[in-house]
Amino acid sequence: MLELEPLDQILGTRIHGANLSEPLSDDDFMVVLKALGEYGYVCFPGQALSAAQQKAFAERFGSLEINVAGSYQEPGIPEIMILSNIVENGKPIGIGDAGQDWHTDMSYSSMIAFLNVLHGIKIPRRDGKPLGGTSFANMVQAYDDLPDDIKERIEGLTATHDFNKFWEMMRREKGSSRPPLTPEQRAKKPPVVHPLVLIHPITGKKVLYANPGYAERINELSQQESDDLLRYLFEHQLQEKYQATHRWTEGDVLVWDNIGTMHNAVADYRADEPRLIKRCQVMADWILQSDLAKANGAEARFFGTH
Ligand code: OGA
Ligand code: MN
Repeated sequence: MLELEPLDQILGTRIHGANLSEPLSDDDFMVVLKALGEYGYVCFPGQALSAAQQKAFAERFGSLEINVAGSYQEPGIPEIMILSNIVENGKPIGIGDAGQDWHTDMSYSSMIAFLNVLHGIKIPRRDGKPLGGTSFANMVQAYDDLPDDIKERIEGLTATHDFNKFWEMMRREKGSSRPPLTPEQRAKKPPVVHPLVLIHPITGKKVLYANPGYAERINELSQQESDDLLRYLFEHQLQEKYQATHRWTEGDVLVWDNIGTMHNAVADYRADEPRLIKRCQVMADWILQSDLAKANGAEARFFGTH
C-alpha cells in the first residue's frame, strides 16, 4: 500500500511503501500519476535501484529522452544521465552544473518533457545539513494568480524556446566551462514554439508555460512588447511564495512534473563536496495522448500550434 505524506508547502509529497525496483501495480501507478498532478513533485525515500531498474520505472510514464549534450551517460544505458561534480583520474564522471538556474526541462523540445526521475546516490552535507537541493516553483498557482487582463492577453500567444539560451547563460553568467554547442548539436535542437498557457494533462488546470531558462520570444508581439511581457512573467513566476525546495537524502527517488513546475538545482556546495545523482527524462508523448489528457483537453491545446 502506498502512503502519501504531503509536505506542508506549495509543492511536494513523499510517498512511502513503494519498491521502485519492481513494477508498480496499475493502481499504484495511478496513485503516483495523480500525486504528480496534485503536488508537482514526489519523493520516494530509501530506494535502492540499479540504473536499469530506474530506467524501467521511468519508461512506464513515456518515452525516454537521450540528451543532446551526450557524453555523461551510464555505460550501456544512454537514457540515464550522470549529474555529478566528481572528478576521477582527472576526468569528470558527470555533468557538474546541470540545471543551475530556473528552467523547465525540455521546453526547448518539440515534444516537451513530462517527468524527470532522479536517484540520489551521493549528497553533499555540511554541518549535518544537506546541500545541493532542488527547488521547484508552482506554475499552476502562478497562472492562477495572474491578473485577469494578463490572462486574457496571453491566452492564444506562443513562445519560442531555445536550448542554447540556457547553455549560453551558463557560459556567460555562471563561469561554466561547457564549450559552445557545436553546429551539429544546435541543428539537433532548433528553437521550438509552444503555447504560453498549457492545460495540465492530469488535472485539466491551466499552467503558465514560460520559463526564464529557455523562453526567449513571444512570437505574436513586437520585440519590445515581447521583452516587456516576458520580463513581467519571469518576475511574477519567480516569487518566493510559489517555491519549495527538496533537500536530498541518499536513496531518494525524486520524480517531478515538468509541465506544472519549474526547477532550479541549488549550487550551494563546493567542488570537494561530492554529489552524484542519476537522471532519466520522460517525454510527454504518452501522457498527452492518454485518456486523461484527452478528457482534460490538454492534447488538443498542445498539438494545436504544431
Ligand atoms: C535536471 C536538473 C536538478 C538537480 O536534472 O534537469 O535541473 O538538482 N537537475 O540536479
Ligand atoms: Mn533541469
